[in-house]
Amino acid sequence: MTVTPRSSTLDRVLVLEMVRVTENAAIACAKLIGRGDEKAADAAAVEAMRDALNQLEFDGTVVIGEGERDEAPMLFIGEKVGRGYLETGVGTGPKIDIALDPLEGTTITAKAGPNALAVLAIAEEGGLLNAPDVYMDKIAVGPGYPAGVIDLRKSATDNVKSVAAAKGVAASDLIICVLDRPRHEALIAELRSLGCGIQLIPDGDVAGVIATTNPDTGIDIYMGSGGAPEGVLAAAALRCVGGQLQGKLVFRNDDERGRARRWGITDLDRVYDLNDLAKGDVIFAATGVTDGSLLKGVKRRRDGVITTQSVVMRASSGTVRWVSGEHRNNRHA
Ligand code: FBP
Repeated sequence: MTVTPRSSTLDRVLVLEMVRVTENAAIACAKLIGRGDEKAADAAAVEAMRDALNQLEFDGTVVIGEGERDEAPMLFIGEKVGRGYLETGVGTGPKIDIALDPLEGTTITAKAGPNALAVLAIAEEGGLLNAPDVYMDKIAVGPGYPAGVIDLRKSATDNVKSVAAAKGVAASDLIICVLDRPRHEALIAELRSLGCGIQLIPDGDVAGVIATTNPDTGIDIYMGSGGAPEGVLAAAALRCVGGQLQGKLVFRNDDERGRARRWGITDLDRVYDLNDLAKGDVIFAATGVTDGSLLKGVKRRRDGVITTQSVVMRASSGTVRWVSGEHRNNRHA
């Protein structure tokens, strides 16, 4: 087989390195599954992900991270990561932008619920939207639909009818995934009036969006508002496997609007398409923390071996790799 070289700063070697990073974060916080301590679980994942990123030969910049510099001690937005920074304070290797959520689903983890993930996406410099930590209205479908089948500017009813027509079924045959939040009451009522099935998830809308790409989940559309950073991460995954996603930032006050402007966002009403959120070559990686629709969670076997399941995808090749890990002598054990 002839392998065609691709012009991208994202070296192929990074594909598997990304899995090591998300595995490290997932294993570190798995000890805290069901322990009722969201902060401790998050802190463990953050520290482990940062350690792993600082082993890598790249000049990384966190563009979506744990928060702004004054509110997050580690993996804050703008933090530089990579071996060069750790050893000499100077970046070496290709310039890479990173969107990360070391523990997507802190409450899920604290309560031992489903679908908690350690997740990140990397892109060439400038490839990921610097989304502020505000809400984002999202709508997503998996691959195989004609372009424009979803449109955030239209009502939920119009979108459901459009997807149903494209799928060749009745609106009432569709299953819509929605975060279970009081703010979604009106949306849920509208979907119920169409007779749709609704899968309400307690948290974890990165997995919720990605579920639309997997026919086994039965989920046709993701709808509703969740975190904007999670929207960028989900967009990175859909860039690799196909599907459509649109997002629009939701601002609750002037402080949030100001934050968006500080990140260079001028049009606060813009509807972002997949390529606006994650463009160019992108690698997306996730490791399951708890069992979920996408991945199995971290397990410790009786013999002490820790098992993980991860997925890593790359936009330029469309390759998706499912990685089962067995970790012996793990330093987190
Ligand atoms: P955390 O891991 O930060 O707790 O996020 C979980 C999550 O459910 C995301 O998946 C989602 O985008 C966001 O929270 C929704 O925010 P809220 O809980 O405020 O509705």
